[in-house]
Amino acid sequence: MKYLICIIQPGKLDAVREALDGLGITGMTVSEVQGYGRQHGKTEIYRGAEYEVHFLPKVKVEIAIDAAQEAAVIEAIKAAAGTGRIGDGKIFSLDLEAAMRIRTGEDGVAAL
Ligand SMILES: Nc1ncnc2c1ncn2[C@@H]1O[C@H](COP(=O)(O)OP(=O)(O)OP(=O)(O)O)[C@@H](O)[C@H]1O
Ligand SMILES: [Mg+2]
Repeated sequence: MKYLICIIQPGKLDAVREALDGLGITGMTVSEVQGYGRQHGKTEIYRGAEYEVHFLPKVKVEIAIDAAQEAAVIEAIKAAAGTGRIGDGKIFSLDLEAAMRIRTGEDGVAAL
């Protein structure tokens, strides 16, 4: 299994969720976060306004998936979240050792 941590533009959350639904992804965790990348200290456009702040609002999407789905999921997120402009975000992939569905006790991929 893999655990993907995706930092995207807030306005791209719906598109990413729809893309993941289309791939049969059964769950995700979403948080409002703040962050910066390489343009730290410089300006970035957010919702039409230019910001000169260090931290910009982003959305973090966390998804546990079958490792066999990784390439397809990453490609779908890239297509849904990408604009080609700075600040589009990043996808981090971690090895996921275990998962359990609390109600049923299922584990591994069956728990996702
Ligand atoms: N190395 C990193 N570690 C953790 N989070 C990061 C890292 N780089 C970027 N992020 C997160 O991703 C968000 C978006 O980063 P961003 O897309 O601006 O990256 P970038 O490297 O500056 O690329 P670009 O030049 O396309 O803007 C940041 O606001 C931050 O929340
Ligand atoms: Mg950036």
